[in-house]
Amino acid sequence: MSDVFKAVQISDHVWWVGAIDWTLQDFHGYATPSGSTYNAYLILGGKITLVDTVKAPFRSEMLARVMSVVEPREISYIISNHSEMDHTGCLPEIIELAKPEKVFASAMGVKALADYYHLDKITAVKDGESLKLGDLTLTFTETRMLHWPDSMFSYLEEDKLLFSQDAFGMHLASRERFADEIAHGVLESEAARYYANILMPFSPRITKLLEKVKTSGIPFDLIAPDHGPVWRREQDRQWILDRYGCWAAKKPTRKAVVVFDTMWGSTEKMALAICEGLAAGGTEVKYMPLRKYSRSDVATEVLEAGALLVGSPTLNDGLFPTVADVLTYLKGLKPANLIGAAFGSYGWNGTAVEEIKSILTVMKVALVSDGLKIRYLPDKTTIQECYALGLQTAHKLAEVAAP
Ligand SMILES: Cc1cc2nc3c(=O)[nH]c(=O)nc-3n(C[C@H](O)[C@H](O)[C@H](O)COP(=O)(O)O)c2cc1C
Repeated sequence: MSDVFKAVQISDHVWWVGAIDWTLQDFHGYATPSGSTYNAYLILGGKITLVDTVKAPFRSEMLARVMSVVEPREISYIISNHSEMDHTGCLPEIIELAKPEKVFASAMGVKALADYYHLDKITAVKDGESLKLGDLTLTFTETRMLHWPDSMFSYLEEDKLLFSQDAFGMHLASRERFADEIAHGVLESEAARYYANILMPFSPRITKLLEKVKTSGIPFDLIAPDHGPVWRREQDRQWILDRYGCWAAKKPTRKAVVVFDTMWGSTEKMALAICEGLAAGGTEVKYMPLRKYSRSDVATEVLEAGALLVGSPTLNDGLFPTVADVLTYLKGLKPANLIGAAFGSYGWNGTAVEEIKSILTVMKVALVSDGLKIRYLPDKTTIQECYALGLQTAHKLAEVAAP
């Protein structure tokens, strides 16, 4: 079986030697319906260098691809751009097999690899440091907290190729190795999904990094991330950089996400009426019952939204569990520049709406109302209140959002 896995040349000196995870559906709680790839790259220079590895169960696929071009013992250096286990899961075994002269990581990467695998012979590289790979030059840039403390980029000067680890990546299993071979709509949705679920909390750092990249004037012919396709066409590279710029800035748009769950249908009726009001006010609406949508779907929609309205029935003095789940998740992802509101049906104390409000407040969502609570089933009058809340939110959004 392993004979069939071949390396794919992506530039003059670089070969893709990663693995394709066709069946991945859940990546640490992030729903990944399109699978993923774990990208590792082999640089064939005077010193043969492996950039990142793959998730542990994919070790033999990666090794087979490596062995289609070199013997593992020919590898002189290994670079770990990111210590998360989908890129280092088989690093200890590869070190054992290849016995490289040196393994390099950022200073924080050295610590993480020691904690994870008790690897104690990793060499730390500094921000801006260059490494000679014989005739080639690899330069490192620390990208701390993008998205882990250890994260760094490596840049291969001769091929003008940026190894960007998780940045500019996506969870997409495909046989195609280049973005220009994949339908643009797929790239759009998977790149947004990846940004929303992994990178959104670090948006201010991304804005700074993009600025640094722009002012550095360093030419890029390829951007090779650790998941998904390689960006090689000028327009594709520009597109993904532009999207990152927009997502990081997260300017409010006239789009509202209405997310809720329900036990007996009352909160659902409220959500539907709110959506009608939002639409009547000229807002694009994404209606997201949590029986249908995952927390990752919600995060993805929130990425390009200007309003977030959250509804929950009160259950045992608190939130319905799926709503608590999605709010916990969104709070961590720190979506910026949102207006919003809380709503829900209740029986006797209605604490769920208060809980939603307090979480939205922690998330710095500007509340447009005090929260809408309806006892048991909404009637003609209260359903109008829901519609009015939607309309009020739409009008507020029209004031603050880009058209
Ligand atoms: C198991 C259970 C526990 C409940 N606990 C509370 C509660 O603590 N406080 C409250 O105000 N209502 C409580 N309720 C009442 C619901 O909030 C009420 O029926 C509401 O209309 C349900 O909204 P829904 O139709 O959107 O599910 C509870 C209902 C159930 C079924």
